[in-house]
Amino acid sequence: MTEPSAARDAYPHEERAHDGRDDAPAHDRPARRRPEPRGPWEKLAGTVRCPVCGDSLEVAERALRCPDRHTFDIARQGYVSLLSGAKRAANADNASMVLARTAFLEAGHYAPLTGALARITASLGLPAQDGGGMVLDAGAGTGHYLAAVLEALPGAVGLALDASTYALRRAARAHPRAGAASWDVWRPFPVRDGCADVVLNVFAPRNGAEFRRVLKSHGALLVVTPTERHLRELRGALGLLEVDPDKEERLERTLSGHFERERAEVLEYPLALSSADVANLAAMGPAARHVEQEELRARAAALGTRVQATASFGISVYRPVRTAG
Ligand SMILES: C[S@@+](CC[C@H](N)C(=O)[O-])C[C@H]1O[C@@H](n2cnc3c(N)ncnc32)[C@H](O)[C@@H]1O
Repeated sequence: MTEPSAARDAYPHEERAHDGRDDAPAHDRPARRRPEPRGPWEKLAGTVRCPVCGDSLEVAERALRCPDRHTFDIARQGYVSLLSGAKRAANADNASMVLARTAFLEAGHYAPLTGALARITASLGLPAQDGGGMVLDAGAGTGHYLAAVLEALPGAVGLALDASTYALRRAARAHPRAGAASWDVWRPFPVRDGCADVVLNVFAPRNGAEFRRVLKSHGALLVVTPTERHLRELRGALGLLEVDPDKEERLERTLSGHFERERAEVLEYPLALSSADVANLAAMGPAARHVEQEELRARAAALGTRVQATASFGISVYRPVRTAG
């Protein structure tokens, strides 16, 4: 068997945010440090599995390696390419989407959501609150929300899984206790059964069976979805996709049999956006896959320099259904 090569993205250029802004409130700004070479992987290695043979992985030099010597390099930016070759996921965010998301999040517009996730995590009564534990963020993007959840669980380590290497470069620096790895969340996750205290899923694909498999029996799944009112003022003008009115029902269907909803809350508040913010909002979402960046920016500019909109999120906490035996 050949050894999978994972060094493809080891030394890419550094990206900059659209408008170069660095004026986000300090509490909502991700910690953009260069990760330690081994960093969180010392602790995470016990939870990840070799995607080729399923055996355990250990840190070896700047790589993760299984006993069969399948080797996955830790890129200079700190993330590990576990997903290799032709196994790329179709909906991975591209470079400009990640730049737009980074700039938008750093401007602090979703800080109430970031704060809510930290507050909810702290209220879950997890043993990990006293130290230790593991948080897996499925479709983590830049790791923005994972960082906030880790702050609420001192001593826990985090694993950001995403199919976008552009996002992973940022996720690997989002928090000193977070590692990042490329993965397609529709495939069985490259981690052990029952290794996670929290699975986080924010505006990202949901694989209910895998979320259940990787969660400890006392663990919690946190899911964030946009409600139908989210950005309703902007959808028509920007050509953003409508939120599926059956989204809630689909969410329940995906998770039923694996999870029971313990609680749910709606977080809704007004947004005051500049046209750069509106352009970033459009450019970070699915519209960016089928409308040119220039066109999205022109549509954003046509809305004026001060734009009012509604942020509206559903935040749900699920607990694993107990299995017999
Ligand atoms: C809307 S973004 C949300 C990112 C992050 N959770 C946040 O809220 O900032 C969706 C993320 O899911 C990732 N994604 C989409 N399809 C995926 C897949 N099949 N496997 C892994 N990641 C995927 C994208 O690359 C993107 O980073």
